[in-house]
Amino acid sequence: MLTDTTLSFIGSGAMAEAMIKGILGHGLIDPESVTASGPRPERAQELRGRYGIRAITDNKAAARVGKIVVLSVKPQLLPKVMAETREDMGANALVISIAAGMPIGVIRRELGVETIVRAMPNTPGQIGHGMTVWTATGAVTQTMQRQAQAILSALGKELYVADEGYLDMATALSGTGPAYVFLFMEALVDAGVHMGFSRRVAQELVYQTVEGSAIMARETGLHPTELRNRVTSPGGTSAEALYQLEKGSLRTMISKAVWAAYQKSKALGELAAK
Ligand SMILES: NC(=O)c1ccc[n+]([C@@H]2O[C@H](COP(=O)([O-])OP(=O)(O)OC[C@H]3O[C@@H](n4cnc5c(N)ncnc54)[C@H](OP(=O)(O)O)[C@@H]3O)[C@@H](O)[C@H]2O)c1
Repeated sequence: MLTDTTLSFIGSGAMAEAMIKGILGHGLIDPESVTASGPRPERAQELRGRYGIRAITDNKAAARVGKIVVLSVKPQLLPKVMAETREDMGANALVISIAAGMPIGVIRRELGVETIVRAMPNTPGQIGHGMTVWTATGAVTQTMQRQAQAILSALGKELYVADEGYLDMATALSGTGPAYVFLFMEALVDAGVHMGFSRRVAQELVYQTVEGSAIMARETGLHPTELRNRVTSPGGTSAEALYQLEKGSLRTMISKAVWAAYQKSKALGELAAK
């Protein structure tokens, strides 16, 4: 899939490394065809040692050699990095941005490139268990789409959407999602400690319960309501607990939180486009 191409990462932090690790681990490309740039020589040395790739401190050189260029710096640095590399970016390069909230229109305007993929990964992508939602401009060929898909699947699952608008929704659901889940887990662990479990034991109980429930939902394919009903005996403990959660409007709070994140994502995108 990625043979006969060259792949550059501008910004060689956690996400870039997760992609490099996944792509090389699956043997999709030779290390010699991968370049990663970032400001710190010691980080470059680290990546060279770990993966045998070409790791450098020159973004312009990385842009020049990449037929596929992944923009993997923090969103606030992206305008500066795009201005710096504009002249070096090949007119036919496939640019893949994983920077949260940066609209395709801005990338096109700042880089003068037409073939752009915009992706929204999430933090579990750092360990290969992420959910990445992505879209592509009309100029991105089928081959380029397959290449983008291969690169993004190094982070875990990926899903193509035809409309960029879905990326704001994905930002609110799967991009921000780990924050909701971690908060829920934290609250459960604290509740366990409140009852008298040690933190270590409470954590073990909660982590396994969350992981097992997620796998069960996926593997059985049953609706969450059905799975919840199966835990809820008449007059039992779950019914008592669920009553309190509904009384506290948990469902409405979650819906409001996701909606707020969606509105925020759209507002940040509009700000970036100015
Ligand atoms: N982390 C996630 O799970 C996640 C989820 C969704 C989206 N994303 C997106 O993924 C992108 C990368 O995130 P990350 O978590 O990998 O961040 P990160 O670990 O901080 O990586 C960013 C890298 O960019 C480097 N950098 C700083 N200034 C630079 C410059 N002028 N030119 C080139 N590189 C520069 C940093 O180097 P130094 O360390 O030396 O400063 C760092 O290695 C972000 O745009 C973020 O929005 C991340």
